[in-house]
Amino acid sequence: MKAGGGETVGTKAIAIGCDEGGFELKQTILKLLRDDGYEVKDFGCYSLDPIDYPEVGYDLARAVARGEHDRGILICGTGIGMAIVANKVPGVRAAQIHDSYSAERARKSNNAQIMTMGGRVVGPELAKSLVRIWLASEFTGGNSARKVDKIMAGEQRPGPPGA
Ligand code: RB5
Repeated sequence: MKAGGGETVGTKAIAIGCDEGGFELKQTILKLLRDDGYEVKDFGCYSLDPIDYPEVGYDLARAVARGEHDRGILICGTGIGMAIVANKVPGVRAAQIHDSYSAERARKSNNAQIMTMGGRVVGPELAKSLVRIWLASEFTGGNSARKVDKIMAGEQRPGPPGA
């Protein structure tokens, strides 16, 4: 499959979702993903009518955690609410992305399966570039694997560090 930038990557099933604050940007990214040949599931919302972002955020993040999609993209007004929601789902690492360096590092260092963006923060062309960078980047493993393992181990031990 061809992904943005012309590089060939493995088949990726992408889930995408938004609230009304991210609706217009979600439509832009949905088209980009389909044009780039990805298999995409749209979790809504489907109009500018206001919805509560945790509903879409939890649906998508749980589906990613179950392994039904390789990656997920969540868009609200700021990207913050969706990131908070997604990170409450066990197994999920969600990163709020508004710059290209973070887009790359979210994959290479953090192995984030979900990226969030603010539809009221980033413009469509920057957002398209961020998505392509994030999708083209892979986890580097090594020392980062140890750190990500510790993040995930923390899910089994709720409470303050050291408790
Ligand atoms: C909805 O207006 C807004 O609160 C939401 O899109 C998001 O920015 C929350 O984090």
